[in-house]
Amino acid sequence: MPGVERVLVTGGAGFIGANFVRHVVTHTDARVTVLDKLTYAASPEALADLPADRVTLVTGDVADTATVDPLVAAHDTVVHLAAESHNDNSLDDPEPFIRTNVVGTYVLLEAVRKADARFHHVSTDEVYGDLALDDPKRFTEDTPYRPSSPYSAAKAGSDHLVRAWVRSFGVRATISNCSNNYGPWQHVEKFIPRQITEVLEGRRPRLYGDGQQVRDWIHVDDHSSALLTILEHGRIGETYLVGADGERSNLEVARSLLRLMGRPEDDYELVADRAGHDQRYAIESGKLRLELGWQPRFGDLDGGLAETIEWYRAHRDWWAPRKAATEAAYAAKGQ
Ligand code: NAD
Ligand code: TYD
Repeated sequence: MPGVERVLVTGGAGFIGANFVRHVVTHTDARVTVLDKLTYAASPEALADLPADRVTLVTGDVADTATVDPLVAAHDTVVHLAAESHNDNSLDDPEPFIRTNVVGTYVLLEAVRKADARFHHVSTDEVYGDLALDDPKRFTEDTPYRPSSPYSAAKAGSDHLVRAWVRSFGVRATISNCSNNYGPWQHVEKFIPRQITEVLEGRRPRLYGDGQQVRDWIHVDDHSSALLTILEHGRIGETYLVGADGERSNLEVARSLLRLMGRPEDDYELVADRAGHDQRYAIESGKLRLELGWQPRFGDLDGGLAETIEWYRAHRDWWAPRKAATEAAYAAKGQ
C-alpha cells in the first residue's frame, strides 16, 4: 500500500483485529505491529501462524502514554481497534469501557498528533442508538448520535475526540462505523458464537426478551476489506459507514443456525432481556460503495453462517475454556 508500510494495529489480538491483521498480511506488503493488552477477549493464537518478519505482538495498554508514544512514532499508520467491546459487560461494570475506549483513544490521538501519523478509528453503528422495528430508515453518516449503553456512549465519545483532533489539530484521521460482525475468532460471549457453541454443547440458543430485535450482520472479512479500502482511498476527516445489507432478527438468525446444525428451528429458549436493549440497527453504506468502490464479498448470510459453524466445530480447544467462564456469568444473570 503506498504510504502504508509500517502499521500499528491496536487490539490486533481481538476478534476483528486478528482477522484484519491477517487480511493486511495477505493483501499488502506492510509490516504490522499489534499493540494489545491481552484482556480476556484476546486470542494471540489467532496470530500465531502469521510470518514473524511481518507481524510483531507488543503487550501493552493503549491508555499508557509511555507505551504508546514511542510505538506510534515508529509507524506511519495507526489502525485503532482496541476496546472493551461487549454491551452486557458495560452494563455490569462501565469503568474499563471509559478507560480503554475514551482515555485510550485520547492517548493515541495525542501520540499521532506528535508523530504526524495517519490514524484510522474503528467504531460501531451503535453510536447512533437504535431504530424502531417498523422504521423504514437506515443509519447514514448524517444520523445524529444517540448512544444507549455505556459501551456505545464510550465509543461515541471516542468518535467525537477523533473529529475534534482532526478539526483543532489537523490530525490526519478517518472513522468507520460498522454493523455487527461475525466470523472466526469471535468470543463466545457474543450472540452468534454463543448460540453455535450452545448447540455444539447440546443446549439450546438463548434469545433475550422476545428475540425480535434486528441486527445488520457483516462477515468480518468484509469489514477488513472495507478498512483497507478506507486506508488506501479514504478522504481525511471523513466518516464511512460499513454494512452489507444483512438485516435479520435475532430469532431469524437462531432459526438459521438451528437448521444449519440439523436441529428443529423452534428449539430455542427465551431468557431475561438486556437492560436498555437496542431494537434495530441498519446501515446505509452507499458512501463507501460509491465513493471508494467497496463491495462486500459475502452476499448470503446463511453461507457465512455455515462456514462459521464449521470453524467453531474445528476449534473447540480454543473456545471451550472461554465458554465455561462466560456461561457461568450469564447464568448468574438468568441469561
Ligand atoms: P474484541 O473484544 O474481540 O477485541 C478487543 C481487543 O482489544 C482484545 O484483543 C483486547 O485484549 C484489546 N484491548 C482491550 N483493552 C485494551 C487496552 N486498554 N489496550 C490495548 N488493547 C486492549 O473486540 P472486537 O469485536 O474485535 O472489536 C474491535 C473494535 O471494533 C472495537 O473498537 C469495536 O468497538 C469495533 N466494532 C466491533 C463490532 C463487532 O461487531 N464486534 C462492530 C463494529 C465495530
Ligand atoms: P451482541 O452479539 O452482544 O452484539 P450487540 O449488543 O453489539 O448488538 O448481541 C447481538 C444481539 O443478540 C443483541 O440484540 C442481543 C442479542 N443476544 C441474545 O438474544 N442472546 C444472547 O445470548 C446474546 C449474547 C445476545
